[in-house]
Amino acid sequence: EQHTTWDGGQLVKYDGIWCATRLLRPIISTQKYFKAKDTDIILSTMPKSGTTWLKALAFAIINRNIHEIDQSPLLNSNPHAVVPALEFDAYRDQENPDLEHIPSPRIFSTHISYNTLPDSIRESECKIIYICRNPLDLFNSLWHFLLDNKSEKYAERILIDKAFDMFCKGNHHSGPFWDHMLGYWNAHLNDSQKVLFLKYEDLKEDITFHVKRIAEFIEFPFSLEEEKQGVIEKISRLCSFENLSNLEINKTGNSDIFKNSSFFRKGEVGDWKNHLTPEMAERVNKILESKLEGSGLMFKTCN
Ligand code: A3P
Repeated sequence: EQHTTWDGGQLVKYDGIWCATRLLRPIISTQKYFKAKDTDIILSTMPKSGTTWLKALAFAIINRNIHEIDQSPLLNSNPHAVVPALEFDAYRDQENPDLEHIPSPRIFSTHISYNTLPDSIRESECKIIYICRNPLDLFNSLWHFLLDNKSEKYAERILIDKAFDMFCKGNHHSGPFWDHMLGYWNAHLNDSQKVLFLKYEDLKEDITFHVKRIAEFIEFPFSLEEEKQGVIEKISRLCSFENLSNLEINKTGNSDIFKNSSFFRKGEVGDWKNHLTPEMAERVNKILESKLEGSGLMFKTCN
Protein backbone atom coordinates (compact mmCIF):
# COMPACT_ATOMS: atom_id res chain seq x y z
CA GLU A 1 0.00 0.00 0.00
CA GLN A 2 1.33 3.44 -0.97
CA HIS A 3 0.34 6.98 -0.16
CA THR A 4 1.61 10.52 -0.73
CA THR A 5 1.51 12.55 2.45
CA TRP A 6 1.00 16.30 2.64
CA ASP A 7 4.62 17.35 2.18
CA GLY A 8 4.78 15.37 -1.03
CA GLY A 9 6.67 12.54 0.74
CA GLN A 10 6.01 9.04 -0.58
CA LEU A 11 4.89 6.68 2.15
CA VAL A 12 4.58 2.95 2.12
CA LYS A 13 2.82 0.81 4.71
CA TYR A 14 5.07 -1.69 6.42
CA ASP A 15 3.86 -3.86 9.31
CA GLY A 16 0.82 -1.58 9.70
CA ILE A 17 2.81 1.67 9.97
CA TRP A 18 3.45 4.29 7.27
CA CYS A 19 7.10 4.97 6.58
CA ALA A 20 8.87 7.07 3.97
CA THR A 21 9.48 4.89 0.93
CA ARG A 22 13.20 5.79 1.02
CA LEU A 23 13.40 4.38 4.57
CA LEU A 24 11.93 1.00 3.73
CA ARG A 25 15.26 -0.57 2.75
CA PRO A 26 17.08 0.82 5.84
CA ILE A 27 14.24 -0.36 8.10
CA ILE A 28 14.36 -3.85 6.65
CA SER A 29 18.17 -3.90 7.01
CA THR A 30 17.84 -2.79 10.64
CA GLN A 31 15.34 -5.57 11.28
CA LYS A 32 17.54 -8.14 9.63
CA TYR A 33 21.03 -7.20 10.79
CA PHE A 34 20.94 -5.09 13.95
CA LYS A 35 22.31 -7.09 16.86
CA ALA A 36 21.39 -5.44 20.12
CA LYS A 37 23.77 -5.71 23.06
CA ASP A 38 22.45 -6.02 26.59
CA THR A 39 23.94 -2.63 27.37
CA ASP A 40 22.28 -0.78 24.45
CA ILE A 41 19.79 2.01 24.95
CA ILE A 42 17.15 2.48 22.27
CA LEU A 43 15.25 5.77 22.15
CA SER A 44 11.97 5.21 20.32
CA THR A 45 9.68 8.01 19.26
CA MET A 46 7.25 9.27 16.68
CA PRO A 47 8.72 12.23 14.85
CA LYS A 48 8.10 15.47 16.80
CA SER A 49 7.46 13.86 20.18
CA GLY A 50 10.66 15.09 21.79
CA THR A 51 13.32 12.95 20.10
CA THR A 52 15.92 15.73 20.12
CA TRP A 53 15.38 16.39 23.83
CA LEU A 54 15.51 12.71 24.75
CA LYS A 55 18.72 12.22 22.75
CA ALA A 56 20.37 15.11 24.57
CA LEU A 57 19.23 13.84 27.97
CA ALA A 58 20.29 10.23 27.46
CA PHE A 59 23.66 11.30 26.02
CA ALA A 60 24.33 13.77 28.85
CA ILE A 61 23.34 11.27 31.56
CA ILE A 62 25.51 8.48 30.19
CA ASN A 63 28.54 10.62 29.42
CA ARG A 64 28.51 12.74 32.54
CA ASN A 65 31.69 11.15 33.87
CA ILE A 66 33.51 11.26 30.55
CA HIS A 67 33.21 14.98 29.87
CA GLU A 68 32.57 17.75 32.38
CA ILE A 69 29.02 18.91 31.77
CA ASP A 70 30.22 22.38 30.83
CA GLN A 71 32.48 20.78 28.19
CA SER A 72 29.76 18.54 26.77
CA PRO A 73 29.87 17.70 23.03
CA LEU A 74 26.24 18.84 23.05
CA LEU A 75 27.54 22.41 23.16
CA ASN A 76 29.12 21.98 19.72
CA SER A 77 26.97 19.30 18.09
CA ASN A 78 23.28 18.88 17.44
CA PRO A 79 21.81 16.00 19.52
CA HIS A 80 21.07 14.14 16.27
CA ALA A 81 24.77 14.16 15.47
CA VAL A 82 25.76 12.52 18.77
CA VAL A 83 23.02 9.86 18.86
CA PRO A 84 22.59 8.08 15.53
CA ALA A 85 19.19 6.93 14.33
CA LEU A 86 19.09 3.31 13.18
CA GLU A 87 17.14 3.79 9.96
CA PHE A 88 18.25 7.37 9.16
CA ASP A 89 21.95 7.09 9.96
CA ALA A 90 23.35 3.66 10.80
CA TYR A 91 21.55 1.68 8.07
CA ARG A 92 20.93 4.48 5.60
CA ASP A 93 23.77 3.75 3.19
CA GLN A 94 24.84 0.28 4.20
CA GLU A 95 22.90 -2.90 4.51
CA ASN A 96 24.98 -4.35 7.31
CA PRO A 97 27.28 -1.67 8.81
CA ASP A 98 29.82 -2.46 11.53
CA LEU A 99 28.38 -1.01 14.72
CA GLU A 100 30.49 -3.19 17.00
CA HIS A 101 33.21 -0.57 17.39
CA ILE A 102 30.86 1.95 19.01
CA PRO A 103 31.77 2.02 22.71
CA SER A 104 29.15 0.65 25.12
CA PRO A 105 26.68 1.69 26.21
CA ARG A 106 25.59 2.48 22.67
CA ILE A 107 22.62 4.80 22.24
CA PHE A 108 20.47 4.65 19.10
CA SER A 109 17.21 6.29 18.22
CA THR A 110 14.45 5.03 15.96
CA HIS A 111 10.97 5.83 14.72
CA ILE A 112 10.35 2.13 13.99
CA SER A 113 7.20 0.75 15.63
CA TYR A 114 7.46 -1.77 18.46
CA ASN A 115 6.33 -4.71 16.32
CA THR A 116 8.84 -3.90 13.62
CA LEU A 117 11.88 -3.69 15.92
CA PRO A 118 14.65 -6.21 15.27
CA ASP A 119 14.11 -9.35 17.38
CA SER A 120 17.42 -8.79 19.13
CA ILE A 121 16.14 -5.55 20.67
CA ARG A 122 13.14 -7.32 22.16
CA GLU A 123 15.07 -10.42 23.17
CA SER A 124 18.21 -8.88 24.67
CA GLU A 125 18.44 -7.08 27.99
CA CYS A 126 18.77 -3.72 26.27
CA LYS A 127 16.54 -0.87 27.41
CA ILE A 128 13.93 0.99 25.40
CA ILE A 129 12.83 4.53 26.24
CA TYR A 130 9.72 5.77 24.43
CA ILE A 131 8.56 9.36 24.55
CA CYS A 132 5.16 10.40 23.25
CA ARG A 133 3.38 13.73 23.02
CA ASN A 134 -0.24 14.79 22.83
CA PRO A 135 -1.33 14.39 19.21
CA LEU A 136 -2.45 18.00 18.72
CA ASP A 137 0.95 19.45 19.60
CA LEU A 138 2.64 16.65 17.72
CA PHE A 139 0.66 17.34 14.55
CA ASN A 140 1.23 21.08 14.91
CA SER A 141 4.96 20.53 15.36
CA LEU A 142 5.18 18.15 12.40
CA TRP A 143 3.28 20.52 10.15
CA HIS A 144 5.67 23.37 10.98
CA PHE A 145 8.72 21.12 10.65
CA LEU A 146 7.81 19.92 7.17
CA LEU A 147 6.96 23.46 6.13
CA ASP A 148 10.28 24.74 7.45
CA ASN A 149 12.25 22.12 5.54
CA LYS A 150 10.46 22.36 2.22
CA SER A 151 10.95 24.61 -0.75
CA GLU A 152 8.49 27.44 -1.40
CA LYS A 153 6.97 25.32 -4.10
CA TYR A 154 5.88 22.75 -1.55
CA ALA A 155 5.14 25.19 1.23
CA GLU A 156 2.17 26.54 -0.68
CA ARG A 157 0.77 23.08 -1.00
CA ILE A 158 0.95 22.14 2.66
CA LEU A 159 -2.46 23.42 3.69
CA ILE A 160 -3.07 22.76 7.33
CA ASP A 161 -6.65 21.48 6.86
CA LYS A 162 -5.61 18.94 4.32
CA ALA A 163 -2.60 17.87 6.38
CA PHE A 164 -4.75 17.53 9.48
CA ASP A 165 -7.22 15.34 7.68
CA MET A 166 -4.39 13.04 6.60
CA PHE A 167 -3.07 12.96 10.17
CA CYS A 168 -6.47 11.91 11.51
CA LYS A 169 -6.61 9.15 8.92
CA GLY A 170 -3.19 7.97 10.02
CA ASN A 171 -1.52 8.83 6.71
CA HIS A 172 1.65 10.47 8.02
CA HIS A 173 5.25 9.57 8.86
CA SER A 174 5.18 6.69 11.43
CA GLY A 175 1.37 6.89 11.56
CA PRO A 176 -1.19 6.05 12.61
CA PHE A 177 -0.15 7.94 15.74
CA TRP A 178 -2.36 5.77 18.01
CA ASP A 179 -1.01 2.46 16.74
CA HIS A 180 2.63 3.49 17.11
CA MET A 181 2.07 4.74 20.65
CA LEU A 182 -0.07 1.81 21.80
CA GLY A 183 2.53 -0.67 20.56
CA TYR A 184 5.08 0.77 23.00
CA TRP A 185 2.50 1.38 25.71
CA ASN A 186 1.51 -2.29 25.73
CA ALA A 187 5.15 -3.35 25.70
CA HIS A 188 5.69 -1.11 28.73
CA LEU A 189 2.70 -2.67 30.51
CA ASN A 190 4.11 -6.12 29.80
CA ASP A 191 7.58 -5.30 31.05
CA SER A 192 8.21 -1.94 32.68
CA GLN A 193 11.87 -2.83 33.34
CA LYS A 194 12.40 -3.11 29.61
CA VAL A 195 10.35 -0.20 28.29
CA LEU A 196 10.17 3.19 29.97
CA PHE A 197 7.18 5.15 28.70
CA LEU A 198 7.47 8.95 28.95
CA LYS A 199 5.29 11.89 27.96
CA TYR A 200 6.70 15.18 26.65
CA GLU A 201 4.22 17.10 28.83
CA ASP A 202 5.42 15.36 32.01
CA LEU A 203 9.04 16.22 31.24
CA LYS A 204 8.03 19.85 30.72
CA GLU A 205 6.33 19.80 34.11
CA ASP A 206 9.22 18.33 36.11
CA ILE A 207 12.47 17.76 34.28
CA THR A 208 14.72 17.02 37.26
CA PHE A 209 12.42 14.21 38.37
CA HIS A 210 12.59 12.71 34.88
CA VAL A 211 16.37 13.07 34.54
CA LYS A 212 16.63 11.01 37.73
CA ARG A 213 14.07 8.53 36.49
CA ILE A 214 15.80 8.02 33.14
CA ALA A 215 19.17 7.59 34.86
CA GLU A 216 17.76 4.96 37.22
CA PHE A 217 16.00 3.15 34.41
CA ILE A 218 19.16 2.79 32.36
CA GLU A 219 21.09 1.79 35.47
CA PHE A 220 23.20 4.95 35.63
CA PRO A 221 21.70 6.35 38.86
CA PHE A 222 23.02 9.53 40.42
CA SER A 223 25.05 9.13 43.60
CA LEU A 224 24.18 11.19 46.67
CA GLU A 225 27.37 13.12 46.05
CA GLU A 226 26.26 13.96 42.52
CA GLU A 227 22.84 15.01 43.76
CA LYS A 228 24.48 17.32 46.28
CA GLN A 229 26.69 18.80 43.57
CA GLY A 230 23.61 19.65 41.50
CA VAL A 231 24.51 17.36 38.60
CA ILE A 232 20.84 16.60 37.86
CA GLU A 233 20.03 20.30 37.57
CA LYS A 234 23.12 20.90 35.41
CA ILE A 235 22.05 18.17 32.96
CA SER A 236 18.49 19.52 32.91
CA ARG A 237 19.77 23.00 32.09
CA LEU A 238 22.24 21.77 29.48
CA CYS A 239 19.44 19.92 27.64
CA SER A 240 16.80 22.61 28.03
CA PHE A 241 15.14 24.14 24.98
CA GLU A 242 16.45 27.56 26.01
CA ASN A 243 20.05 26.37 26.14
CA LEU A 244 20.14 24.08 23.11
CA SER A 245 18.15 26.34 20.80
CA ASN A 246 20.49 29.27 21.48
CA LEU A 247 23.71 27.42 20.66
CA GLU A 248 25.41 28.53 17.47
CA ILE A 249 25.45 24.99 16.05
CA ASN A 250 21.70 24.68 16.48
CA LYS A 251 21.01 28.10 14.99
CA THR A 252 23.10 27.74 11.87
CA GLY A 253 24.08 24.09 11.35
CA ASN A 254 22.51 21.56 9.00
CA SER A 255 22.16 17.82 9.11
CA ASP A 256 22.06 16.05 5.74
CA ILE A 257 18.48 16.95 5.00
CA PHE A 258 17.23 19.16 7.81
CA LYS A 259 18.22 22.50 9.27
CA ASN A 260 19.34 22.08 12.88
CA SER A 261 17.17 25.04 13.82
CA SER A 262 14.05 23.23 12.61
CA PHE A 263 14.36 20.84 15.57
CA PHE A 264 13.92 23.80 17.93
CA ARG A 265 10.76 25.72 17.18
CA LYS A 266 8.89 26.68 20.36
CA GLY A 267 9.19 23.74 22.73
CA GLU A 268 5.89 24.42 24.47
CA VAL A 269 2.80 22.53 25.52
CA GLY A 270 -0.47 23.70 23.95
CA ASP A 271 0.84 25.70 20.99
CA TRP A 272 -1.73 23.81 18.87
CA LYS A 273 -4.30 26.30 20.18
CA ASN A 274 -2.66 29.00 18.05
CA HIS A 275 -3.02 26.97 14.85
CA LEU A 276 -5.86 24.47 15.15
CA THR A 277 -9.57 25.09 15.67
CA PRO A 278 -11.65 23.66 18.54
CA GLU A 279 -13.43 21.49 15.93
CA MET A 280 -10.11 19.96 14.93
CA ALA A 281 -9.32 19.26 18.59
CA GLU A 282 -12.74 17.67 18.98
CA ARG A 283 -12.06 15.34 16.09
CA VAL A 284 -8.76 14.18 17.59
CA ASN A 285 -10.32 13.80 21.04
CA LYS A 286 -13.00 11.52 19.62
CA ILE A 287 -10.39 9.33 17.95
CA LEU A 288 -8.32 9.30 21.16
CA GLU A 289 -11.34 8.24 23.18
CA SER A 290 -12.08 5.26 21.02
CA LYS A 291 -8.48 4.19 20.39
CA LEU A 292 -7.25 4.53 23.97
CA GLU A 293 -10.35 3.12 25.64
CA GLY A 294 -9.37 0.56 28.25
CA SER A 295 -5.64 1.06 27.68
CA GLY A 296 -5.06 3.18 30.78
CA LEU A 297 -3.30 5.81 28.67
CA MET A 298 -4.58 9.40 28.72
CA PHE A 299 -3.68 12.90 27.59
CA LYS A 300 -4.84 15.78 29.70
CA THR A 301 -3.59 18.48 27.35
CA CYS A 302 -5.99 18.08 24.43
CA ASN A 303 -8.70 20.41 25.76
P1 A3P B 1 7.63 22.33 18.66
O1 A3P B 1 7.57 22.26 17.17
O2 A3P B 1 6.27 22.22 19.28
O3 A3P B 1 8.38 23.50 19.17
P2 A3P B 1 11.56 15.98 17.71
O4 A3P B 1 12.78 16.26 18.49
O5 A3P B 1 10.93 14.66 18.05
O6 A3P B 1 11.76 16.20 16.26
O7 A3P B 1 10.48 17.04 18.21
C1 A3P B 1 10.66 18.41 18.00
C2 A3P B 1 9.83 19.16 19.01
O8 A3P B 1 10.47 19.14 20.27
C3 A3P B 1 9.68 20.63 18.63
O9 A3P B 1 8.42 21.04 19.16
C4 A3P B 1 10.87 21.24 19.37
O10 A3P B 1 10.77 22.61 19.57
C5 A3P B 1 10.81 20.47 20.67
N1 A3P B 1 12.10 20.44 21.37
C6 A3P B 1 13.34 20.28 20.85
N2 A3P B 1 14.26 20.31 21.81
C7 A3P B 1 13.62 20.49 22.97
C8 A3P B 1 14.06 20.62 24.35
N3 A3P B 1 15.34 20.57 24.66
N4 A3P B 1 13.12 20.80 25.28
C9 A3P B 1 11.81 20.85 24.96
N5 A3P B 1 11.33 20.74 23.70
C10 A3P B 1 12.23 20.57 22.72
